[in-house]
Amino acid sequence: MAKRPLSLSKVYTLLESGAVIMVTTAYKGKSNIMTMSWHTMMDFEPPFVGFVMSDRNYSFGLLRKSRECGINIPTVEIAEKAVACGRIHGGKINKFEKFGLTPGISSIIGVPLIEECYASFECRVADTKMVNKYGFFVVEVVKAWIDKAIKNPQTLHHLGGNNFMVAGKRIQIKSPK
Ligand SMILES: Cc1cc2nc3c(=O)[nH]c(=O)nc-3n(C[C@H](O)[C@H](O)[C@H](O)COP(=O)(O)O)c2cc1C
Repeated sequence: MAKRPLSLSKVYTLLESGAVIMVTTAYKGKSNIMTMSWHTMMDFEPPFVGFVMSDRNYSFGLLRKSRECGINIPTVEIAEKAVACGRIHGGKINKFEKFGLTPGISSIIGVPLIEECYASFECRVADTKMVNKYGFFVVEVVKAWIDKAIKNPQTLHHLGGNNFMVAGKRIQIKSPK
């Protein structure tokens, strides 16, 4: 392969293509939604997820105080709403109302989930050691919900800027014997 140098500022565009998620938070009667693509699985079961949340986001304060959040996975049907939630600040507006998203009830945590997302996880903050330095939270998924009627969810995958991929063809690769 004839590889050439890639600008360091573009590195994230090749690595961040896990499903775009919508993180819901709430504290003292105020709830919010933000879009996120810098996240990673950290363990199978119990499932631990790590993510970077900038302290410039309104969601950051809500998460820090409540220590709970929802991870909601949107599909292409609500792509524009999902991205819009990542372009505006929730301090003075209610993004559920502004974008016509329905707050769903959580069973364990006190944070609304998003009804229009095909899967939603209820999470509790498990580790904040790297929050001050990197904005990196580790959360534990304590309850998970999925709409199994959706067979091939067309999730969104961020490629940087205004560019996204939609999940496509699925293939199976057998392990070597
Ligand atoms: C596709 C996409 C992915 C994003 N990923 C992240 C992320 O991983 N971490 C982060 O801190 N902000 C991320 N953002 C930016 C926040 O979603 C954005 O700053 C948002 O307005 C924060 O909302 P809030 O201030 O109401 O909390 C992303 C935005 C978009 C559109």
